[in-house]
Amino acid sequence: MKRIAVFASGTGSNFRTIVQHIQNGHLRAEPALLVVDNSKAKAADFARAHHIPVSLLPPRDFADENAFGRAVIEALEARQTDFIVLAGYLKKIPDNVIGAYPNRILNIHPALLPAFGGKGMYGRHVHEAVFRSGAQITGVTVHLINNEYDAGPIVLQAAVNVRDCQNPAEIAEKVLKEEHRIFPEAIKLLLENPYRIEGNRVIVERENNDQN
Ligand code: GAR
Repeated sequence: MKRIAVFASGTGSNFRTIVQHIQNGHLRAEPALLVVDNSKAKAADFARAHHIPVSLLPPRDFADENAFGRAVIEALEARQTDFIVLAGYLKKIPDNVIGAYPNRILNIHPALLPAFGGKGMYGRHVHEAVFRSGAQITGVTVHLINNEYDAGPIVLQAAVNVRDCQNPAEIAEKVLKEEHRIFPEAIKLLLENPYRIEGNRVIVERENNDQN
């Protein structure tokens, strides 16, 4: 069974959803580790209550990005991590971590990339930009990460109609509901099937329908 490490910075509702999917048998994976970048992340309380080890690794505690990355890799290797899931993790993933887990780091972004992405576009900033723009359709993107912000190969997307939303908070609520639906699906797809990357496309080579 694949061992996944989840990274989170805040509430951790996506992290909770992932753990619930593992517990109810929908997702065949071992929750090996939660990495948080700050001591206030609520996700850590949930992890501890479910006996999932937590590593608190604030980037500013390290001399530079490289040293931070080495500490992250050490924590991941100590827990025999196969795959990384970024569930509302708002810090940059160091290049050496990306190099150590090539095409094995999945991120969720609360909009339809390549729209409303890039540096500084996270959480409520995304929904505020969508609201300001007048866009009626936004959504969720689950993608593999590379060295460029929000630009890695797309695994799954879902559209959300926000035409009737009166403010960014309403958009956020609708989008988050959809995140909880497609994130576990995307993780399952990549954990249970061989895949390769062609350009910026993810090619899933074989759908594994064997439930046993
Ligand atoms: C989610 O909406 C996620 O898409 C977003 O942070 C929120 C975390 O919520 N991530 C980004 O904006 C990354 N660019 P959660 O802590 O309740 O899972």
